[in-house]
Amino acid sequence: MMESKDKRELFERLMGRVGEIMRGDGADRDKMARICQLLADEVNYYDWVGFYTVNPNKERELVLGPFVGDPTEHVNIQFGEGICGQSAETKKIFVVQNVCEVTNYLSCSPKVQSEIVVPILKDETILGELDIDSHTLAPFSEEDEIFLTEIAELFAGIL
Ligand code: SME
Repeated sequence: MMESKDKRELFERLMGRVGEIMRGDGADRDKMARICQLLADEVNYYDWVGFYTVNPNKERELVLGPFVGDPTEHVNIQFGEGICGQSAETKKIFVVQNVCEVTNYLSCSPKVQSEIVVPILKDETILGELDIDSHTLAPFSEEDEIFLTEIAELFAGIL
């Protein structure tokens, strides 16, 4: 498991690269894709990294956006359903350190042991979320929450 200090150093370095991507050219989806790739490449316990956005054509539904990792059958998720849907419904971060311990969970792969979902909120409206799955048990800490919330806030500014 990574030490807090090592995480802080890693996330500070990655935040610089996230900033470069966000300030650069390209459509929102390209930026999402590049950030997914960056996080999946650089954080060894981030095994699936993806964005969901709120479906503009259907109320209370999330649609899968850019992601890096195994393909998932959960392309459309209703609010309230699974970890992603609960985060969209409540507009809160969900940190699940052991997915076997929760019931309202949509499994993407038996390899996944833990998950963190961070909502992208603008003026209390949910626009989407950043979802990370890990094959490690209980790898997430406050450092991850702070780092991923910062990224979600940057997207709230452009979506
Ligand atoms: N596990 C999620 C579904 C999305 S996948 O992790 C990609 C959930 O319970 O909402």
